[in-house]
Amino acid sequence: MIRLNDLSFEESISEKTITEAIEKISVEINAAYAGKSPIFMVVLNGAFRFASELISRFEGDCRVEFVKMSSYDGTESTGEVLTHMALDFDLEDQEIIIVEDIVDSGNTLEKLVNMIAGGGIANYSIATLFFKPEAYTKEYKIHYAGLEIPNDFIVGYGLDYNGLGRNLNAIYKLKKTD
Ligand code: IMP
Ligand code: MG
Repeated sequence: MIRLNDLSFEESISEKTITEAIEKISVEINAAYAGKSPIFMVVLNGAFRFASELISRFEGDCRVEFVKMSSYDGTESTGEVLTHMALDFDLEDQEIIIVEDIVDSGNTLEKLVNMIAGGGIANYSIATLFFKPEAYTKEYKIHYAGLEIPNDFIVGYGLDYNGLGRNLNAIYKLKKTD
């Protein structure tokens, strides 16, 4: 068990399971993008670790770009997605791989897809390390999902609780108090 600020968390997904999930996605992406030169569009902050592992396994040429969004306050989604760092790269004719740490309601994804939709891209796909299908309210296809998880609040491996926990190497879920 670990404690971050006022809350307790218990380990729920091991580092080994996370690594295996990333390896599975990497194989799929290497096959789908063989001979292509995609842009990995990394959604900060949470996706930095997943992105680093994923991109280090990519066998072709690629570019890496960043956007920064947030929608969580504490352990709850605010329902509002804030953009802290906008797109500053040319999308024209590009093949984009959106790299997310976790897809929950899908609000962030919707905003990201709308951001790139007008830019004349060739195509896009979505890669997320974690996916909460019970919480997902959108229709966008999730092309590459590492691990489907229940609707729990989790931290670790890049994901945070009010900024803390990103350095943890496994995933920890919020411990229910009652
Ligand atoms: P969505 O917009 O509701 O799909 O949420 C996406 C974003 O909320 C993710 O990119 C995370 O940054 C954050 N988020 C969603 N679920 C969790 C969680 O369980 N722990 C930490 N952050 C989360
Ligand atoms: Mg995120």
